[in-house]
Amino acid sequence: MRICYKLAILLVMNYKNAQIAEVATQLQERFASLETKSDILKATELRALYAQIPTLPAEERATFGQEINALRSELEKLVESHQEQAEALPPIDVTAPCDANAPTPQLLSALFGSKHPLTQELEAVLDIFYRMGFTAVESREIDDDYHMFGSLNFPEGHPARDDYDTFMTEQTDKNGKPFIAPAHTSTMQNRVMRKYAGNLENGKPIAAVIPGRVFRNEDLDARHEHTFYQLEGVYVDKGVHAGNLIATLKTFLQEYYGKELQVKTQPFYFPFTEPSFEFALSCPFCDGKGCHICSQSGWIELLGCGMIHPNVLKEAGIDPEVYTGFAWGGGIERLVMMKYGIEDIRHFESGKLDFLRQFS
Ligand code: DAH
Repeated sequence: MRICYKLAILLVMNYKNAQIAEVATQLQERFASLETKSDILKATELRALYAQIPTLPAEERATFGQEINALRSELEKLVESHQEQAEALPPIDVTAPCDANAPTPQLLSALFGSKHPLTQELEAVLDIFYRMGFTAVESREIDDDYHMFGSLNFPEGHPARDDYDTFMTEQTDKNGKPFIAPAHTSTMQNRVMRKYAGNLENGKPIAAVIPGRVFRNEDLDARHEHTFYQLEGVYVDKGVHAGNLIATLKTFLQEYYGKELQVKTQPFYFPFTEPSFEFALSCPFCDGKGCHICSQSGWIELLGCGMIHPNVLKEAGIDPEVYTGFAWGGGIERLVMMKYGIEDIRHFESGKLDFLRQFS
């Protein structure tokens, strides 16, 4: 099952100007719901950006103008490709022979199908993080040794590399290393810190969440899938400390589950954080009383997190003497399983209608 993120197309464009980037995100979201797609080119936000040009200092006008033009042409392409797709679809012959006695399939409520539960929940999760001031960047499905390990302070031959049960290709990159199906979304940390380094120069934090599909060579059971989704978070600024990390995660989780929760951390080891923690929350399903979801313990170990290791900051071109940051990463399925009491992670990739119908 392939999940479509509604943000995917425009966010890959690197708008340096935060206001333009924000308008790009808004318009991208609106585009999906517009009946007449070309109306997006008449958006008032776009006009307002153009109207702003004469008010800017002379030296900023050219770059600002170029970025708006880039956004406009990106939107034009979006409209065009939507039209091409609509035109290219072949007609369907409804008179083709079929078995008239076959039972009529029970259709999903929306007649044309419905959003996969993970897409629905991911949208809810991202909406919360947008309200908390985070931006979203999509991860990728093929990566390299540097982003999986090197940029994250895993030295060559470090035993922690083996913890990730990584799928690798036989084909190698220009450094003679195999390509990698990312085993975690932390592969994006270095890229995101580099992409938003300008925020720090402007006195603003780097605050990004990164949803992505990840792959591990795991033995499968009710709690383990070879293909699943993670959400990574990265936050860097002056004076950031572990209290900020815990408060951010607790605020998010309380908003997501719509209730007060207890949280706790215990020490852990990841090469890319120092200190590193395992983060647990009181079971939102039974409110910590003990149930089948939390194995009667009242607590759920949810994710890994910590203060970003100085070597990881340095590798992304950030001075660890000036800035500190926190990061976390955890499975999206687990969040959803606890919300709805889903007992087996394998349902998500199974494509079973009986399962999907419950969320449509
Ligand atoms: N990438 C880790 C994993 O999948 C989880 C993790 C731990 C992510 C600590 C982080 C972090 O960003 O800081 O096991």
